[in-house]
Amino acid sequence: MKKKIIIGSDHAGFPLKVILKKALEEQSFEVVDVGCFDLNSVHYPEIAGKVSREVANGKYDKGILICGTGIGMSIAANRFKKIRATLCHDSLTAKFSREHNDSNILVLGGRILGEETAREILNVWLKTEFSGDRHQMRVDMFDQLTDET
Ligand code: RB5
Repeated sequence: MKKKIIIGSDHAGFPLKVILKKALEEQSFEVVDVGCFDLNSVHYPEIAGKVSREVANGKYDKGILICGTGIGMSIAANRFKKIRATLCHDSLTAKFSREHNDSNILVLGGRILGEETAREILNVWLKTEFSGDRHQMRVDMFDQLTDET
């Protein structure tokens, strides 16, 4: 069975999304793209919501979000309780976002990253497993955070 992944971008992330979508398909992923589909301006929180909701409800294990800097998508995606969206800039942040934070959404800055760096980040993020143990305990602590504590 093909591995499935959900991906979304705004207009600023669209060119990089086209590149990474192709790379994922070449690695035999079934890629579900929730938009946008051209360079016309859209609102990144709407796209972040579409991807995050499906990862949070378990339909997809992992998702990818791309905007201009990656910052807006990260803020929006992390509003969802079950989402651990990590903005990665290089292979090291990609590796540790999986090993330590059990990242379930990779966020990239389409206007920040070069194509090769983005490909490398994606590959490292996809192949790196969560380390568990003390990192699991810390990740579990996210759910204990409230406005009051
Ligand atoms: C769009 O102009 C830009 O604000 C968006 O892509 C992103 O960088 C937001 O954080």
